[in-house]
Amino acid sequence: MRALRAHHRGGPEQLVLEDAEIPVPGPGEVLVAVHAAAITLTELLWDLSWQTRDGADRTPVIPSHEVSGVVGGLGTGVDSLAAGDEVYGLVDFDRNGAAAEFVTVPASALAAKPAKATHVEAAALPLAALTAWQALVDHAGIRPGERVLVHGGAGGVGVYGVQLAAHLGAHVIATDLPANESFVRSLGAAEFLDFTTQRFDDELSGLDVILDAVGGETLARSYGVLRPRGRLVTLAAPPDQTQAQKHAVHAMFFVVRPDHGELAQIAALVDDGSLRPVVAGVFPLAEGRAAFESIHGPRRPGKTILVVRP
Ligand SMILES: NC(=O)c1ccc[n+]([C@@H]2O[C@H](COP(=O)([O-])OP(=O)(O)OC[C@H]3O[C@@H](n4cnc5c(N)ncnc54)[C@H](OP(=O)(O)O)[C@@H]3O)[C@@H](O)[C@H]2O)c1
Repeated sequence: MRALRAHHRGGPEQLVLEDAEIPVPGPGEVLVAVHAAAITLTELLWDLSWQTRDGADRTPVIPSHEVSGVVGGLGTGVDSLAAGDEVYGLVDFDRNGAAAEFVTVPASALAAKPAKATHVEAAALPLAALTAWQALVDHAGIRPGERVLVHGGAGGVGVYGVQLAAHLGAHVIATDLPANESFVRSLGAAEFLDFTTQRFDDELSGLDVILDAVGGETLARSYGVLRPRGRLVTLAAPPDQTQAQKHAVHAMFFVVRPDHGELAQIAALVDDGSLRPVVAGVFPLAEGRAAFESIHGPRRPGKTILVVRP
């Protein structure tokens, strides 16, 4: 098969399009014929993109860990899917990704592709929409009527955080660059703050929930704008529990995990029009290196997608 691979740790300059063995699905795994795969612009910087969880070298590696495609084969013990099924899902970062004609994925990390989404649109969902879902539903447990602040509402996770919080009945306030205001409002934000000119901690107080996709100083200023027992879910690094205790709030960090049931619920929301996939740019597999290099160019909201089978 054709695959985008890196033989040595580094940046996009290490990526080469070459022939590789078609992987064989192990027990509980599915061989997926890849139609589209989403890259995460920073994934080549992460240790897990190059190593096993035990720290062993995995090179040569294949990047791009969100996939939409068609089932091409089944490992032993998989009876929930059949050859020809259209599926989408999240490939763990400590195994080969989907920038190739085929990828093997545990069946538990796949679900039926949203019927109303193209493969390109479906590939834009798994990592970011699962992260937003797990943050808002599993960790924050948001309820209708709550006031929810999404930091970075036009970002990879933010676009789904805004949509999901609004769908779940929250009053959504989002921050981002002013150029993104009308887009973020179109996703369901009732209020918008331009983080370049407005300090959210001067303008907001008593919030129920914050989804923080920014971290750093933005996180540091967030504890004090929640109500007592408000919930803060942050994504970049663990929060400061001393600050959380000082303000009597719950502050949480987690790492997203593949989840069949949640992917199925996300697909249902796409099919009923409640959740819109957001695609920033599309590159053919052969231009995978350029796709990763697009991190340096002008940013558009959403995911960057590699098309493997047009
Ligand atoms: N824990 C997990 O499981 C998990 C899962 C997914 C992602 N993450 C992490 O979550 C973070 C966000 O990921 P992402 O893919 O959503 O990143 P992203 O696409 O870069 O989104 C961040 C957004 O925040 C905006 N922004 C930058 N500074 C801001 C500020 N001071 N106030 C408000 N908005 C600001 C950015 O605008 P610009 O584009 O102009 O910079 C961008 O729209 C990253 O650190 C990522 O590693 C963690």
